[in-house]
Amino acid sequence: MVLVGAAVGAALALVAWLIPWLPRPAAEEAGAIDNAFWFVTVVCVVIFALVAGVSVYAVWKFRAPPDDLEDGSPIHGHTGLEIVWTAVPALLVTAISVYSGIVLTQIEDIPDEHRVVEVSSQQFAWSFTYPEAELTSGQLTLPVGEPVELKITSKDVIHSFWVPEWRMKQDAVPGIETRLVVTPTETGEYSVICTELCGLGHATMRAKAVVMSAEEFEAWLREQEEAAAAGGTTQGRQLFTSLGCGSCHSLADAGTQAQVGPDLDNALRGKEADFVRESIVNPDAEIAQGFQSGVMPGDYGERISDEQLDGLVEYL
Ligand code: CUA
Repeated sequence: MVLVGAAVGAALALVAWLIPWLPRPAAEEAGAIDNAFWFVTVVCVVIFALVAGVSVYAVWKFRAPPDDLEDGSPIHGHTGLEIVWTAVPALLVTAISVYSGIVLTQIEDIPDEHRVVEVSSQQFAWSFTYPEAELTSGQLTLPVGEPVELKITSKDVIHSFWVPEWRMKQDAVPGIETRLVVTPTETGEYSVICTELCGLGHATMRAKAVVMSAEEFEAWLREQEEAAAAGGTTQGRQLFTSLGCGSCHSLADAGTQAQVGPDLDNALRGKEADFVRESIVNPDAEIAQGFQSGVMPGDYGERISDEQLDGLVEYL
């Protein structure tokens, strides 16, 4: 019976090993986090299999026949067994704590000179500020291979920053600043996902994270600064992207396709500039049919200057 159990366990372990449970890691910190995750998982699976196996065996082996009305034989404890089932979990929990502590120190390590990106969250949008460029964007753009410190804040309730491929997750808590260090190792596009139930629009609270080469990143920063300085529709188009409007709204010109909010090509057709402006600064004033109020952040009017707002309205 022990042999059959061991064989089934080994077969299941092999199948589990072959399934890619986690997304492809794309940050330096991901390796250490994955190792810690698998260490804890293996410990838990072994303990669970042991407890479940003994329980099932006991139910099967020691089941009383229907006509057996006697009491069971008296048991007065087993000192050896009690020592084992106290010592083994204590050792395992200690090992998990020490190992996790080591991993935490590793992934929070960053050179004194490093880039900082301020991550701001609110119901239901992310924004990313690059202090050295005085630039705020709705897209998290990072250079590959460079450790970056993310300083995370919230303007309202608790949100949580998560990029699955980076494995990094951190709560955004109103009133304090939390931090994360990330060193992307693969260029490409990823999703910043909110993983804290934060209200009606929680499931829509996503932003794009783009990792590019160092040269492309510098060019992107310059492009954003130039577009911001250009004013008018050029600035409006840049704001549409940088504010993350496209993560909820479809707009053919910006090449975005999303159905969280109204499709702007249709919703704004034939409308006056005043309607467009009102829809941005006071989104709940008029709700398009089939959509809900309270989903779009109501503070875009404060987040951007009057001149930026003019550019965005003109563009739309
Ligand atoms: Cu923010 Cu969920």
